Amino acid sequence: MTFLKLTNLKKSFGATQVVHDFNMAIDKGEFISFLGPSGCGKTTVLRMIAGFETPSAGMIEIAGKDQTSLKPNQRNIGMVFQAYALFPNMNVADNVAFGLKIAGMPRADIDKRVKEMLALIHLEHLAERYPYQLSGGQQQRVALARALAPKPQVLLLDEPLSALDAKIRVSLREEIRQIQQKLGITTVFVTHDQEEALSISDRIVVMNAGKADQIGTPFEIYNRPTTRFVASFVGTLNVLDAVVTDQAAGIVKIGEKTLKINEQIPAANGSPLQLAMRPEAGSLADPSDATIAGTVTSSQFLGSVIRTRVDVGGKTVSFDTFNDPGSAPPVVGATVGVKIDPSALILLAE
Ligand SMILES: Nc1ncnc2c1ncn2[C@@H]1O[C@H](COP(=O)(O)OP(=O)(O)OP(=O)(O)O)[C@@H](O)[C@H]1O
Ligand SMILES: [Mg+2]
Repeated sequence: MTFLKLTNLKKSFGATQVVHDFNMAIDKGEFISFLGPSGCGKTTVLRMIAGFETPSAGMIEIAGKDQTSLKPNQRNIGMVFQAYALFPNMNVADNVAFGLKIAGMPRADIDKRVKEMLALIHLEHLAERYPYQLSGGQQQRVALARALAPKPQVLLLDEPLSALDAKIRVSLREEIRQIQQKLGITTVFVTHDQEEALSISDRIVVMNAGKADQIGTPFEIYNRPTTRFVASFVGTLNVLDAVVTDQAAGIVKIGEKTLKINEQIPAANGSPLQLAMRPEAGSLADPSDATIAGTVTSSQFLGSVIRTRVDVGGKTVSFDTFNDPGSAPPVVGATVGVKIDPSALILLAE
């Protein structure tokens, strides 16, 4: 059931419109990520939900109630920012207690709630510490506890992990997801990190220039991107030139090879077509059995996966294979064949 609803949300700063007709229905307990490049309007939409920014047009509803003209403190929303937003002159417990004090909660209830929140983020032992005595990851966990303490109806997180180093980022994103699921709180998480969005979201909104380009599960966004922007922004993408040979049967030609693809082809026989291929849709093959062939230009050993780049008639095609301790990766300069799984090819609309 829809809990947070954004209808035709627009925002202009002066003459510049930065959010265009943003529509979204978010279910109760859902974890939604806004994913998109810098400047595409992620923070602006988030700030409109929180009430820090007034929409130029449109409506924001929570649990069926219009919030559009309510002040931030009337919306019961928790927010976590990019970094270093704790009150520096308050210890951890007082930071977490802040919203509860403002709300006029009795002292004994505050103490109980602060204890619960510190247990939730596993920082009971640091209650007396000041922000400057905490690591970046610990500070962000305190910021999360502070946001959640007043039991908000919606949690908003604006790139909460971007200032942290890679290892902490991965462990903290999993912790955020666990806490969110435990509490069942409706959450919007802003990031420009695709792996982050893919790994922890129920659904992702891929944003481009103030618009929601595509809304879908991580599986859908990655495997069935509906726009060229989504296809190239999320994940690594190869674009292959093909020619339609039998439109009705879904048959195309890539170079000399004929393939049957899983997509409905909108173009007539003989017309050119662009197909996208994820790196994992390719595998090393004997040139006679391969879809395309070319010269290895680089081979990157990434541990569990090896990424090989092959020059195919002036175009670079990247493909991934799992590490196999029994066979050495291809060497630069070698001629290799790449077999493509035709069911994994994505048709790119013009
Ligand atoms: N107060 C403001 N006045 C004028 N322009 C603004 C204001 N706030 C944001 N903008 C502009 O609106 C656009 C969207 O900004 P926004 O902060 O929402 O982007 P973002 O997607 O969060 O980017 P980032 O990933 O860099 O945080 C940008 O072009 C920005 O310059
Ligand atoms: Mg932002």
